Amino acid sequence: MIFFRDQRITPREQVAFTRRFGEIDFNIFGERWSVPGAPEIVVVSNITEDGRPLGIRRAGENWHSDMCYTARPPRGTMLYAQEIPTLHGLPLGDTEFASAATAWDALPDAMQQHLEGRMAVFDFRGRKRALTPTQDEIDRNPPVRHPIVRTHPKTGRKCLYVMRDDCTGIEGVDDEEAEGLISALADHIVKPAFIYRHQWRVGDLLLWDNCTVQHRAIQDYDMPQRRLMHRTTMGGTMPM
Ligand code: SIN
Repeated sequence: MIFFRDQRITPREQVAFTRRFGEIDFNIFGERWSVPGAPEIVVVSNITEDGRPLGIRRAGENWHSDMCYTARPPRGTMLYAQEIPTLHGLPLGDTEFASAATAWDALPDAMQQHLEGRMAVFDFRGRKRALTPTQDEIDRNPPVRHPIVRTHPKTGRKCLYVMRDDCTGIEGVDDEEAEGLISALADHIVKPAFIYRHQWRVGDLLLWDNCTVQHRAIQDYDMPQRRLMHRTTMGGTMPM
């Protein structure tokens, strides 16, 4: 992930910058929570105005890689910080990032050999979400399969692509064993040595790579502490 401090950009400029990395991927919840006049931008926020929530609240509080439940998950995601909650000057609402590539490198040879070539099942229904999906949203997202060990399309670097909840099984492995393996790998990826925690400032524009990085939003704030982020996702790729 990379970030730039002190940016002042309009929604149109964020969309144009996102497009430099690939076509915009429309997030399923963006259909309900986008910036007025910019359907490409999803609003992530705990703010309510005139009785209506401005955006998705409590988005991404579990470790995940964005839209892993789709056949072509977005290559990257961009978050632009508009409002950051604070407590007596202390910023809250950090986001943590874990390197699934460093986590792969750190696995013992025996585990790497055990995982190479295996496919996991990713199911949209697996994760408890900030918003309850409609039946139509569920129907449009049937389970998909992706390799557990992904190879980055640009760098060739390998990384683990496993998440608790989203991954509901491993092909050729019985359910009980698969559940244990998914839990062990999900825990391994988020060991402290592989994590960077971002403390936000208003004006931060931050991008991450959904192949090599997993992330989660820390929910340690509540109204009247306001958090408002503009989120775009870019350029779906078929995991290999
Ligand atoms: C997300 O998972 O897309 C949201 C992350 C955040 O709000 O920090």
